[in-house]
Amino acid sequence: MDVSKLMFREGLMEGERILVTGGGTGLGREMVEAFLKLGATVYICGRRQNKLDETASELMAAHGGKVVPHTCNIRDPDAIRAMVDSIWADGGALTGVVNNAAGNFVSRTEDLSINGFNAIADTVMRGTFYVTLDIGKRLIAEGKRASFLSILTTWVWSGSAFVVPSAMSKTAINAMTQSLATEWGRYGLRFNAIAPGLFPTKGMSARLNPGGARDNSNTALNPMGRAGEMHEIANLAVFLMASGAEYVNGQTIAIDGAGYQATGGTFYGALQGLGDEEWERMRAMIKGTNETDKADRSV
Ligand code: HXC
Repeated sequence: MDVSKLMFREGLMEGERILVTGGGTGLGREMVEAFLKLGATVYICGRRQNKLDETASELMAAHGGKVVPHTCNIRDPDAIRAMVDSIWADGGALTGVVNNAAGNFVSRTEDLSINGFNAIADTVMRGTFYVTLDIGKRLIAEGKRASFLSILTTWVWSGSAFVVPSAMSKTAINAMTQSLATEWGRYGLRFNAIAPGLFPTKGMSARLNPGGARDNSNTALNPMGRAGEMHEIANLAVFLMASGAEYVNGQTIAIDGAGYQATGGTFYGALQGLGDEEWERMRAMIKGTNETDKADRSV
């Protein structure tokens, strides 16, 4: 990310202590960089120790400050508890949580197994809730304020063909955002979400656009004729995580160049015409990516 494009003053986030799940790669890493550059201490978690360590040391070398990596699979509530214990022991309560970790792949729904559904729902819906519950309970007990931000998609409003477990799970987290914004608002805990359009990342492209065939048509149909730039989503995340606009609560904000209004932002148009052979080819490519990632995992 070009950090010179951050909109905010240096030091804006000094004193903030933020956990970004899935913060080692992709959009998570971009948000981590912005928070760090603006003075926050950032904790990151994921399943690949090597990626987390690499991100923490690269970002600290570039910007100074403190990024602390934790290997943690958010599907595991005990692992979450151990990680959050250690974060609390390292300086007390968090002031913010970004629920960014996710899993997704394109598939015809009739081709999904129960395991395939659970691989996505256990991370996106259950894992996000486990993290939110563990940290929320501690903050309530200590009377501390905090901002929670979940990274969703516009499918929470429209649904989407060919990514049904993700659309269902993210819709559940949209409901969590709206529900806890009201229920836990009284404790000074606020809940918002971002629904990004196309911000190409390695993990996303390999699983949602294997082979790269759809990139051009996607950006051509966007009213702004392009994909999002990383500093744009980072600026929105900072706005929602930093202090100064705390009255923003219970909102899901799209950042997609009006792609949702123009085309619905779903996979229907691009994938509904594909035949068995093309699906088989994409499935093989996605599985190849999954296996490579798996070989790298520590948990
Ligand atoms: C059908 C598939 C499949 C595919 C996996 N499965 N890929 N089924 N088509 N292409 C099935 C497997 O066969 C298996 O079921 C089950 O899913 C679990 O597979 P594993 O590889 O063992 O899963 P796991 O190691 O838990 O990995 C989870 C994952 C993986 C979700 C499958 O992709 C992952 O870890 N992703 C994390 C990163 C990521 O997805 N980033 C993109 C996020 S993009 P069986 O029955 O065979 O046992 C995003 C929104 C983008 O979230 C929005 C853009 C607008």
